[in-house]
Amino acid sequence: MNILVIGGGGREHAVIKALKKNGSVEKIYALPGNGGIAADAECYPVKATDLDGIVNFTKTHRVDFAVVTPDDPLVLGCVDRLEAEGIPCFGPRANAAIIEGSKVFSKNLMKKYNIPTAESETFTDADSAIAYLKKGSFPAVIKADGLALGKGVIIAQNFNEAEAAVREIMCDKVFGASGNQILIEEFLTGPEVSVLSFTDGKTVVPMVSSMDHKRAGDNDTGLNTGGMGTVAPNPYYTEKIAEECYKTIFLPTVSAMNAEGRTFQGCLYFGLMLTPKGPKVIEYNCRFGDPETQVVLPLLQSDLLTIMQAVRAGTLSSCEVKFKKGAACCVVLASEGYPQKYETGFEITFPQTAENESVYVAGAKLENGKLLTSGGRVLGAVAAAESLKEAVTGAYALAERIGFANAYKRKDIGRRALAAIEEK
Ligand code: AMP
Ligand code: GLY
Repeated sequence: MNILVIGGGGREHAVIKALKKNGSVEKIYALPGNGGIAADAECYPVKATDLDGIVNFTKTHRVDFAVVTPDDPLVLGCVDRLEAEGIPCFGPRANAAIIEGSKVFSKNLMKKYNIPTAESETFTDADSAIAYLKKGSFPAVIKADGLALGKGVIIAQNFNEAEAAVREIMCDKVFGASGNQILIEEFLTGPEVSVLSFTDGKTVVPMVSSMDHKRAGDNDTGLNTGGMGTVAPNPYYTEKIAEECYKTIFLPTVSAMNAEGRTFQGCLYFGLMLTPKGPKVIEYNCRFGDPETQVVLPLLQSDLLTIMQAVRAGTLSSCEVKFKKGAACCVVLASEGYPQKYETGFEITFPQTAENESVYVAGAKLENGKLLTSGGRVLGAVAAAESLKEAVTGAYALAERIGFANAYKRKDIGRRALAAIEEK
């Protein structure tokens, strides 16, 4: 079987390595992939958002199954285009990917179907949003409706910050048309949990829970990033909470999408906050999270390709989805200065990895046989172990064995999770 994977980050590398475990896989193509992914897949320089380029590629290369992982091609309708060519895909069609593509859509869905989430108001013009903020309380959460490279959520501590955010999004259009509408949302508190799930539109199977570390600096300080590390499972997400989420959030969301004629097939990501009033949805993603996937897939015991095919066929209820006991930790190595200005082009040296270790490459290119850094987040050093403590130690030990000149990492990935385990 030949498989096409759309995307080129650490998440895609983790997906590709997991797909390769299936003996029927002959070839994996990655568009565009990256210099590190090239060790595991044939990479071609077609952008993930170049839907015409992707379709053209499939006319000259046999593709039996496609996996579309990033948000933008999903929202643009990549799955619809590939399916029109007769290629079965893993990933939602555009009419379901809207659950991530429009925060106004997903908020209205949650309101209509009583799915617990933060209170919020929608605005289509800056003046009414600012008038509303004048009477409101702070912190307030301001969200651009559409995709915004993960930067569309602003937590404003006071009116001035909030007004500035509204003007940037709605008047200066810093996120383009994504800022035509905004949500102003109640500020929630509590531990955050990421739960990725497989769903074929009828059955929903949550994967092992995880915890992201979004800020650039230790102790959750500094700017927001695409994610500096993850651990799985998330110790705050107890079995009791998992049961509650399944009943009040996961199943109702999948049923709601069906009822709206927008059946969701693929990986549905629930960004949850465990508030004093119970678990609430902070955001939906229509795809695997990154770097969550880098700790979730190493713990998957069942075969990923088989599950993906069952999702597409609508037979997930009879497919085995098992996770290993134990834990995993991912420490991201970034270029010093990320998420702002940083230098690239430094050579990366790789160690041998043991069975329980993986290096997932996010930002690297091959030049004259050398692997050079090419992005802000360069790679994820991942270790799995019986306990979270061993996984964290293992991931840091692996990270120490990987080198490039301006490598930067957080030193406290997993610290909060380990403290939560000790408190129990
Ligand atoms: P997102 O870009 O949707 O992942 O949101 C970024 C981050 O903003 C989330 O991970 C939360 O930490 C925070 N956030 C989003 N909505 C809220 C809210 N209503 N209350 C508090 N924090 C929030
Ligand atoms: N780690 C959060 C995301 O993938 O959006």
